[in-house]
Amino acid sequence: MNAGIIGLGKYVPEKVVTNFDIEKTLDTNDEWIRTRTGIEERRIAGPEENTSDLAYNAAINAIENANITADQIGLILVATVTPDRGFPSVACQIQERLGAVNAAAMDVSAACSGFIYALATAKQFIESKSYQYILVVGVEKLSKITDWNDRNTAVLFGDGACAAVVSEVSEGRGILSFELGADGTGGKHLFLNDEHTITMNGREVFKFAVRQMGESAVSVLDKAGLSKQDVDLLIPHQANIRIMEASRERLELPEEKLSKHIHKYGNTSSASIGLALADELEDGKIKDDDIIVLVGFGGGLTWGAAVIKW
Ligand code: ACO
Repeated sequence: MNAGIIGLGKYVPEKVVTNFDIEKTLDTNDEWIRTRTGIEERRIAGPEENTSDLAYNAAINAIENANITADQIGLILVATVTPDRGFPSVACQIQERLGAVNAAAMDVSAACSGFIYALATAKQFIESKSYQYILVVGVEKLSKITDWNDRNTAVLFGDGACAAVVSEVSEGRGILSFELGADGTGGKHLFLNDEHTITMNGREVFKFAVRQMGESAVSVLDKAGLSKQDVDLLIPHQANIRIMEASRERLELPEEKLSKHIHKYGNTSSASIGLALADELEDGKIKDDDIIVLVGFGGGLTWGAAVIKW
């Protein structure tokens, strides 16, 4: 039996903050941000919209898209490092709002790898027949843990949410393989500091990301019994266009097989991979039987990859 995504959803706040807006308050400029990161603008949630609101909106979308009702969901997994509060979890908050009365609920904290961690967890519970439908959400309101006076980090992040309903799919399709990993010794390079803002050693994270994303993408294809030539679409964590390009080169893929949405959202951590997947689907870029590689890295340090046959 194979688990796969049967419905996808997304939600981003309305407010667009461009590089030119950031130029007005920080010693930076559009040219630097675009050429070093690929980011042109990001969405930022207002004070009235918290992480659970973003998650709820994406979840509603995914449930509709999967053509199920909320009471059919057996488990809700929310990947986030920016929950509304320590507890209750965002998963419990949206369980109530969705009316998912039959669902267990928990958050998964693996930073930008969180969506893949949650997807891999959902696969286990579906394939062991523990649950029939699992709601996986990747969501962040990174704007609330961003130091808006620090140009090293403030230009990078954005807010958003993605959601996927995972269930049984026909044989040979769905999530074919996954790989998860962590290296706690690298925790010092990227963490939430005592002021509750992000501290990051950009160069160290960059080096780690380039190495790890390439290795994980190759390894997860191998686990699925596939080769680089089989890949139709690569969706890397949207953190920096240069890191994304490095993973494309490692898989020897042409330009058009790299999913690029960083220019409009920035780095949305747990939400980025699912948001890109939802956008690709919306744009009609994914066909039945396509082989899609998802790969991410993040604070922890953590990494994760998955191969999906659509
Ligand atoms: N505007 C203008 N100049 C800047 C800015 C800015 N926003 N930020 C840094 N600079 C300056 C630096 O001060 C430095 O100046 P100096 O040479 O005088 O010291 C110069 O630009 C070059 O800085 P570098 O750090 O070498 O720039 P680099 O090319 O490495 O790019 C970046 C920095 C974009 C942060 C890159 O290292 C990167 O993307 N790293 C990975 C970050 C990442 O993906 N993090 C994941 C976090 S996700 C999560 O888990 C929440």
